[in-house]
Amino acid sequence: MKEKILVTGGTGYIGSHTVVELQNSGYEVVIIDNLSNSNADVVDNIEKVSGVRPIFEKLDCLDMEGLENLFRKHTDIKAIIHFAASKAVGESVEKPLLYYRNNLVSLINLLELMPKYGVKGMVFSSSCTVYGQPDELPVTENAPVKKAESPYGNTKQINEEIIRDTVASGAPIQAILLRYFNPIGAHPSTLLGELPNGVPQNLIPYLTQTAIGIREKLSVFGDDYDTPDGSCIRDFINVVDLAKAHVIAIERILWDKQKEPVEVFNIGTGKGLSVLELIHAFESATGVKLNYQIVGRRAGDIEKVWADPEYANNELGWKAGSTLEDTLKSAWNWQLKLCERGIQ
Ligand code: UD1
Repeated sequence: MKEKILVTGGTGYIGSHTVVELQNSGYEVVIIDNLSNSNADVVDNIEKVSGVRPIFEKLDCLDMEGLENLFRKHTDIKAIIHFAASKAVGESVEKPLLYYRNNLVSLINLLELMPKYGVKGMVFSSSCTVYGQPDELPVTENAPVKKAESPYGNTKQINEEIIRDTVASGAPIQAILLRYFNPIGAHPSTLLGELPNGVPQNLIPYLTQTAIGIREKLSVFGDDYDTPDGSCIRDFINVVDLAKAHVIAIERILWDKQKEPVEVFNIGTGKGLSVLELIHAFESATGVKLNYQIVGRRAGDIEKVWADPEYANNELGWKAGSTLEDTLKSAWNWQLKLCERGIQ
């Protein structure tokens, strides 16, 4: 067994896929999650997929005493992947303090404890949202960070700065900030995937729920953008590909391969796809016809963004390998499975 890795938010969408990839690579995983947006039975499914049951503790990263007890119990945790955060853009506008407290204090607690318990490094879940609408596309890691459109986006920016300032202050820790583009799809086993709470805000869960009949119609937010078909353009990255980038980042920290104590990587495919193109790709991948309508723009949406993933490709030796067709099929199979399980 390789080193022990703490995964916060490890029962969530990206977290659960990452735990599987870590375990497949031989790491021992401790998950903490407050289960605010996931279920404990995800741990069973992780075990079914990987054949290994991760250690799981229901714990909130705001609970400093609980975190101290955890680190005292697992003195051999070598690195952390920090996913645990609130992530609904709209909700963050309504409840900014909840977002600032949850997303900032969780990180601060972990950073405070890392040196004390000899934890060497952290992989942090960041987002392409930090670029806002980039001036140049594809966007590289050197593009300027733009003023955030929402408290959620702002927490990602501030968290990146908190990490940089902490490392610059001489704390004996390293970090890798992974800026994700738009993660979609599910595990091919159909045992893991995205489980949105209530009405989905993100495109793919809304789309698959419409395709299966839970929602009547998918609204496409705007067809008057300055893009070839008028709908927004995103870089849709397969969640298992994304999960694999975390394992490489962990290895980079543990094996002292970092070029700087804080590194940033874009994790995307490098291909921009419009919302309408994605809908048509879904229809042809699955053979399911989708009921959709064009409606007005959604406030705060970025017109177009896709990654230049070359730095991640060259430095990490990581590349998004899944085809869009397989990714969309996996999202659809996951939706079918949820339906079978009676989950709406
Ligand atoms: C947003 C956040 C991103 C965050 C992600 C996950 C911003 C700018 N982006 O990404 O940081 O990591 O959510 O929570 O804050 N769409 C429709 N109909 C729908 C839903 C979406 O047309 O019912 C369109 C949107 O207008 C957008 C695209 O689909 O153009 C993708 O939307 P979504 O899946 O919500 O992700 P982002 O807004 O790109």
